[in-house]
Amino acid sequence: MLRRLHPEQPESFAFTAANQQWAEAQVTKFPEGRQASAVIPLLWRAQEQEGWLSRPAIESVADMLGMAYIRVLEVASFYFMFQLQPVGSVAHIQVCGTTSCMICGAEDLIAVCKDKIAAKPHALSADGKLSWEEVECLGSCTNAPMVQIGKDYYEDLTAENFGRIIDDLVAGKVPTPGPQNGRYAAEPLKGLSSLTEYEADKPQYNASVALAADLGDTVKRIEGTEVPILTPWLGKDGKAAATKAAPTPPKAPAPAKPAVKQAEEAKAAKEAQPETLTGARDGKADDLKMLKGVGPKLEQTLNELGFYHFDQIAAWTSEQVAWVDARLKFKGRIERDGWIEQAAKLAAGEETEFAKRVKKDGTYED
Ligand code: FES
Repeated sequence: MLRRLHPEQPESFAFTAANQQWAEAQVTKFPEGRQASAVIPLLWRAQEQEGWLSRPAIESVADMLGMAYIRVLEVASFYFMFQLQPVGSVAHIQVCGTTSCMICGAEDLIAVCKDKIAAKPHALSADGKLSWEEVECLGSCTNAPMVQIGKDYYEDLTAENFGRIIDDLVAGKVPTPGPQNGRYAAEPLKGLSSLTEYEADKPQYNASVALAADLGDTVKRIEGTEVPILTPWLGKDGKAAATKAAPTPPKAPAPAKPAVKQAEEAKAAKEAQPETLTGARDGKADDLKMLKGVGPKLEQTLNELGFYHFDQIAAWTSEQVAWVDARLKFKGRIERDGWIEQAAKLAAGEETEFAKRVKKDGTYED
């Protein structure tokens, strides 16, 4: 199946205020320069909110993470969990069509989808309420055949009870997920053969079904207020993190700076810039690839910035590291790989473990 952007797209996308706070809090999980690591959770939340990923949603996530649009589209179009076309306004039904489910009747369920929803997968029903697709094994093979609707599994299905579930969804009811044949969970079809003493004490539903029943709506779009925004990595509760992550209102244009202030700032910026050279001293540059994390490409970038020698790098202050880091494609590498310590050793004529290895087998890291 071709996975590409849908020909019809909405004008814009915006997270709800609560989802925006949640998304910004997710980004804080990752170190500076690694914000792209939050791409999947943010895309997923956008899909939970809207049901599918539109082009504006993909671009909005890219903007939040400082990523090129194509990079985020690559992620969204690679993973089948992301829907690139509108889905039913009430529910998108994913029918497992893999071996166990196929043997136990998945084809009957697909026939129900074709009859009650749409002849083709990923098409909307006439009233726009439902859509369906066939998916690979969802890991509930013991309870085959099964479907996933929203966040929940509906198991041990037949064409009849599955048809009833679809009718309920269209009628605005919220069917109870889990096994539909009276089974409690994934115990043998003929009933328990061991641990029978616990049979009498078991709660009404298994834990997954109980959670769905408590939430009361298994097909609800996530708009953020229903999920506590916990950010333990910030050492604060969800509320505090949300406050911290709240988007800042647009700033009024800054008043023109006085000339003295401008001169001071220019001086400070210049001070942050390390001393650079227009070429290697005596035409003989150090082999910067002896630094862990520097390969041929990065060495070329460093040379273009005016750095040719270990002693130049060893002398960088933390402000100067920030200046250089801002000019490198992959941020945070200088500190992470300890360039300054390595450069100081190499400038003093000592060896580092990494340099020894490079000399021995000639492998660089770029
Ligand atoms: S084969 Fe359907 S859940 Fe595994």
